[in-house]
Amino acid sequence: MIMGIGPFTQMLTMDEIPRKGPVSDSQLKIIHEAAIVLSGDEIIDVGTYRELKSKYSDADFLTINQPKVCMPGFVDVHTHLCWGGSRSTDYSQRIAGKSYLEIAREGGGINVSVKGTRAASESELINRLTLRALRHLSEGVTTCEVKSGYGLSEESEIKILKVIKETGRALPIDLIPTVLSAHIKPFDFQGTPREYLDYVIEEILPEIKWQKLSERADIFVDQGAFSLEDGEHFLKEARKLGFSLTIHADQFTTGGSRLAVEYGALSADHLECISDADLELLAHSDTAAVVLPGCSLGLGINYAPARRLLDAGASLVISTDWNPGSAPMGDLLLEASLISAAQKLSTAETFSAITFRAACALNLHDRGILKKGYKGDFLLFPTDDYREILYNQGKLKPDSVWKSGKEVK
Ligand code: NIG
Ligand code: FE
Repeated sequence: MIMGIGPFTQMLTMDEIPRKGPVSDSQLKIIHEAAIVLSGDEIIDVGTYRELKSKYSDADFLTINQPKVCMPGFVDVHTHLCWGGSRSTDYSQRIAGKSYLEIAREGGGINVSVKGTRAASESELINRLTLRALRHLSEGVTTCEVKSGYGLSEESEIKILKVIKETGRALPIDLIPTVLSAHIKPFDFQGTPREYLDYVIEEILPEIKWQKLSERADIFVDQGAFSLEDGEHFLKEARKLGFSLTIHADQFTTGGSRLAVEYGALSADHLECISDADLELLAHSDTAAVVLPGCSLGLGINYAPARRLLDAGASLVISTDWNPGSAPMGDLLLEASLISAAQKLSTAETFSAITFRAACALNLHDRGILKKGYKGDFLLFPTDDYREILYNQGKLKPDSVWKSGKEVK
């Protein structure tokens, strides 16, 4: 069935913006008094309301009577949304002055979430993931990557990835699973970090591939997690098994993003302490630079150098890193607007970083732009000027969310 919706005061198509480098607001393609035409889950046309109403005179048109700005649904490429338990104890220690690494060394940190997630039943995890995914959807996120990484044993990693798959099937949001069994060596593994990685490579990854639970593998290369040498070994083997790669890189120490480029990872994520040389290398590669302002806010550390990454030519993506430890907030629009103010990112750069550039970082080329042939994933904001969206710093939310051609909010 063909269906039209409009008129929207403004439509930001995000079309014809380069995949990499700086973007000025004058490059935003804005259609005034716009409409969108859908067939099933796909966009078949965008243009002015007037033109499309007469071109598709047989189609049902949903008439919009209030000022609205229409733009593509948001894509969050980095989350750890499936966890049990809480880390409020860690957080209260951090705001009282202890560092993330100190807390982890003293028995807090990721291992607390591993215990909480292992103890949770599948149905409890489904319920908790559902609540978080629905909140994200209502705030405009129509595609969301979700990592495992709080199981860290074959049984519990598979449990988490099955929960992600099942929850994604039941909800009108695309959940893209990533295996992060190489998060840290868990508290109960007897052996070296390398031996743990070999267990992941030999036991967990093949089983995940076999059960078709994820096509993407991630590793945390940093102090308190895995060394560069171990990271390299993991990336080589995961790539051989056919996984596409992404890396938690350069959060506390440098070197991870260089590995991401060398191994052709889709993205290098974090980058709070990336070196000048690695920043250039990353910017000149096809690996997306994913910055995570929610983690900087949660840990009280500096933002990653988003401005310099863009100026050097990188494909900048902004994601939430929503997780129970370092980034508990999980509000993509709010976090994107805060980093845009701090790092001086234009509206066009900020919106690119949470729409089509983000989709490309997940190797998804059917979303993030409003254009014929793309998915019918879009948002309507109750305003007549797109600049109001970042100006309201996350407090102006979409009042209508469309996913795969259906209104879901
Ligand atoms: O992306 N850096 C490593 N992993 C997560 C934090 C996970 C946690 O603290 O539970 C991150 O910040
Ligand atoms: Fe993360």
